[in-house]
Amino acid sequence: MAAKMEETEKAVQASSLCKEYRIGDLAITALRDLDLEVAKGEFVSVYGSSGAGKTTLLNIIGGLDAPTSGEITVFGHNLTTYDEDFLATFRSAYVGFVFQSYNLISTLTASENVAFPLELVGWAGDRVRRRAEELLKLVGLSHRANHFPAQLSGGEQQRVAFARALANDPPLILVDEPTGNLDLETGMEIVRILESLKARGKTLIVATHDERIMQLADWTLRLKDGRKVNHK
Ligand SMILES: Nc1ncnc2c1ncn2[C@@H]1O[C@H](COP(=O)(O)OP(=O)(O)O)[C@@H](O)[C@H]1O
Ligand SMILES: [Mg+2]
Repeated sequence: MAAKMEETEKAVQASSLCKEYRIGDLAITALRDLDLEVAKGEFVSVYGSSGAGKTTLLNIIGGLDAPTSGEITVFGHNLTTYDEDFLATFRSAYVGFVFQSYNLISTLTASENVAFPLELVGWAGDRVRRRAEELLKLVGLSHRANHFPAQLSGGEQQRVAFARALANDPPLILVDEPTGNLDLETGMEIVRILESLKARGKTLIVATHDERIMQLADWTLRLKDGRKVNHK
């Protein structure tokens, strides 16, 4: 999937994004008329109280959810025009997700969780094993390769989730409140991982209230009730 030439400097371009969830007769507006531009290699933190629309925005940027209206273009791909098959291909080529609840597969070891996305795209066994080892080393978890998620602390599970998100070496990493459930010291390990990803030129969009992460970011998108409040 080659990005279109004229849009290659932008990682994300969103215009007039709206998202409405419907539960029976009830409509909940999660995003209202949101414009956003993120350059390649930029690190953006997304700040806002619970319910402000942070997770909804990450899901739309990553092609996991569609906006009700508006346009979203990621690395030159207009996601609003894609069907689910194409979105799956897009995600595996461009996006690494680190979910708030980690979403590790409980019956797989740390190493197998990291290997999973590579097996899905058909990597050979040896290459998968080497890559999983390299990724676990990167997040400082080589000594936990054969542990299952339930045998790992929250911070360790979070680091496995980062290693898995990085498996395909995607240019865009989306991270949802990575330190929200961690103590200060454990959170610092995550801050260091984000720092190293920034240094490696990844485009990062991180929902967070953590001052350390916001300081690391190039700028902060502030959301309130699904609307942009300001934008440096
Ligand atoms: N699947 C869903 N169905 C209905 N409402 C939802 C759903 N997901 C989120 N919402 C609502 O959309 C709003 C924004 O939610 P969310 O994006 O999760 O905010 P945040 O991540 O900032 O806490 C909230 O009012 C939330 O209750
Ligand atoms: Mg959220």
